[in-house]
Amino acid sequence: MPESKVIEDIVQQADGGLHKMAAPTFFGYVLGASHPVGVAADFLVSAWGQNAGSSFETPAITGMERAVCNWVIELLSLPAESGAGLVTGGTVANMAGIMAARHALLAAQGWDVEADGLFGAPEIPVLIGQDAHSAPFAALRYAGFGASRTQTVAADSEGRIKPDAFRAAINRCSKPPLVILQAGQINTGAFDPFDELIPMVREKKGWVHVDGAFGLWLAAVPELADRLEGVGEADSWAIDLHKWLNAPFDAGMVIVRDRAPLVASMSARGAYLPETTEHWEPSDSTPELSRRARGVPSYAILRHLGRAGVRDLVAHHCRLAERIARTVSNEPGLTVLNRIHSNQVAICCGDGTDDGKLTMQVLRRVQENGKVYPTHGEWAGRKIIRASVIGYGMQEEDADLLSTEIIDAYRCCVADVR
Ligand SMILES: Cc1ncc(COP(=O)(O)O)c(C=O)c1O
Repeated sequence: MPESKVIEDIVQQADGGLHKMAAPTFFGYVLGASHPVGVAADFLVSAWGQNAGSSFETPAITGMERAVCNWVIELLSLPAESGAGLVTGGTVANMAGIMAARHALLAAQGWDVEADGLFGAPEIPVLIGQDAHSAPFAALRYAGFGASRTQTVAADSEGRIKPDAFRAAINRCSKPPLVILQAGQINTGAFDPFDELIPMVREKKGWVHVDGAFGLWLAAVPELADRLEGVGEADSWAIDLHKWLNAPFDAGMVIVRDRAPLVASMSARGAYLPETTEHWEPSDSTPELSRRARGVPSYAILRHLGRAGVRDLVAHHCRLAERIARTVSNEPGLTVLNRIHSNQVAICCGDGTDDGKLTMQVLRRVQENGKVYPTHGEWAGRKIIRASVIGYGMQEEDADLLSTEIIDAYRCCVADVR
């Protein structure tokens, strides 16, 4: 089949089987919207066909990717000397951070995990909040910790770890623990109290890893950064570029304060690979060796937005989330279950203590109407309609359309029941 026909066919095949995820009316999950300048740069990445795993042949790519790492670290006010790797997304960034932690915590107990693996290795206690995202649990499994060995710590009504419960849990740890904290709870957008928790981990000589897939971006906004007070004291951080930076999929970043454990756990240098004088070898900090030049679209977006553009984007979305919460909660019969900490809004019908049927009916009706697209979730034992404000193009009218669609659908569903 001729090439042009193949492409035409693919376009036809896909028709009806794609979703308007990059539209400013898509409020589902927590997804960025593929910023056009990033998409243009992504075409270059594919057309160039570069393997970005080694700096030897592609110093231009390494330079751009290194700039992305440095700029993101600077934007988030994280330690300038941190190591960083550009990975596929939040889950893998969590895995890489956790593997760096695994290296360091076991090395401190005299165990070389890269040489000797995990069979027979000393214990590392793992603490994580009960309302953490599923991604760090998966990452812990990939890193060999086993999900059921992880101790979950009680959280408050917004999903933030309770300091008292944390103190009790960490006091029970007989060895320096790996502690996973969260910047941005998926349903409420809330932040763990880093300034209270991290000093307790320091006392125990543990490692703090922060899953900040979307929420860590608030650190780039001076007027909002106090919501994450103390987050910069952690040891490693996971962040998505395909969320708030709106990079095309897939793009995430792991940042580790001390680069050495990251490199020890990730490096894939083989004897056949050219020796380079480049200290910052891309494949030293990521699980992949061969890979696309995934940092280039983020480079383009960061150059386009600049520091002020990123700050304004994140702040604007947080304001839109407040606007949605205000409008929806003014409708008798609809409840916003969370305080607005960032960009997530959790909505249910009534107080949500019924079986959640009405809430799910309302959600389906909104989705079927096709004007806006929130998705579902479960929060505090209730079914919820979850709205995430994160697409680069979202404006007040999109937020208002979402609120109106939810309110109208609710009124229709209630009328149907009567
Ligand atoms: C808090 C949090 N952590 C991790 C992830 C996983 O990120 P990814 O889907 O990029 O692997 C998500 C995705 O929504 C998230 O919200």
